[in-house]
Amino acid sequence: MFPAQRTSCSNERPPFRYHHNRLHCESVALEQLTTEYGTPLYVYSAESLRANIVAMQAAFAALQPLICFAVKANDNLVILRTFAAARLGFDVVSGGELHRAQLAGAQPGRCAFAGAGKTDAESRRKQRVPLRLNPGVTPDTHRYIVTGSAESKFGLPPEDARRLADAQWPNLVLRGAHIHIGSELPETAPLLTALDCALEFLEALPANWDTLDIGGGFPVQYRPEGSMPTVPEFAKAIAARLQAFPRRLRLIVEPGRSLLAVMDVGAYGYSMTSHYNAHPRPAEVLVKGDSYRLIRRRESYADLNAADVRE
Ligand SMILES: Cc1ncc(COP(=O)(O)O)c(C=O)c1O
Repeated sequence: MFPAQRTSCSNERPPFRYHHNRLHCESVALEQLTTEYGTPLYVYSAESLRANIVAMQAAFAALQPLICFAVKANDNLVILRTFAAARLGFDVVSGGELHRAQLAGAQPGRCAFAGAGKTDAESRRKQRVPLRLNPGVTPDTHRYIVTGSAESKFGLPPEDARRLADAQWPNLVLRGAHIHIGSELPETAPLLTALDCALEFLEALPANWDTLDIGGGFPVQYRPEGSMPTVPEFAKAIAARLQAFPRRLRLIVEPGRSLLAVMDVGAYGYSMTSHYNAHPRPAEVLVKGDSYRLIRRRESYADLNAADVRE
């Protein structure tokens, strides 16, 4: 753990820090939380969520995008409600994520529904659909979180997408382009190359192709060494590209990790838990100043058995 680090979008005091040699989240000693709730335990800082939201909105203010939190990064209802209350939308990739977002108060018009592999029921829920492009760009990040390279399963090469764009689709209204080239992007250049690819694709289509979803991937500086680009740096570079585009686009950004993560497991931690080795899932706690509350209880052995069919 690297308690002194900051998130990529906020410059404020790190919410996890040592005080008298005891690690704290805001003003609460983690020891107190682990004594009360046990370990392993996911602990989130309300202040860092707030600061990250404000920083993300400020960074992109000039472009007025719909900022959609990528629900895959964490689907805790209290956390989703925090985002909904801040007027964020939600990037959902399954009926289940849409269900969670709606339970948290997401407005249907502020949900971007994308992702690979849809059931028939899920496909019927979609209306306006951006086409996910594969721009053939490989950011220098961990190979498991590269999604924009030619070998990646995500998205269509622009020439194939173009054929789909020209075809008739009874249930779908195709109106935009979508890219997401990977997570923990260590530099802005690959995203800008992908952006150019999406803009070229859109430019050749009629003016009602007015939506551009540029995905997420804004990095969190997990390690003290090196330096990752900040969200304002990404936003500035993106704005410069969009300014040169001949028409105004409805922009969507889908940050996950950069809104949530402080230290190692703020994002994707709980989402990636499983019952492997028959471990009940951990609890989650939200800290605000010197108070805290349980926002998901620790599972019990009964939860391990919940879906069993009794003989
Ligand atoms: C399509 C899409 N959008 C957004 C995200 C969020 O990415 P990050 O958490 O790196 O911001 C992901 C992550 O996998 C994704 O696949």
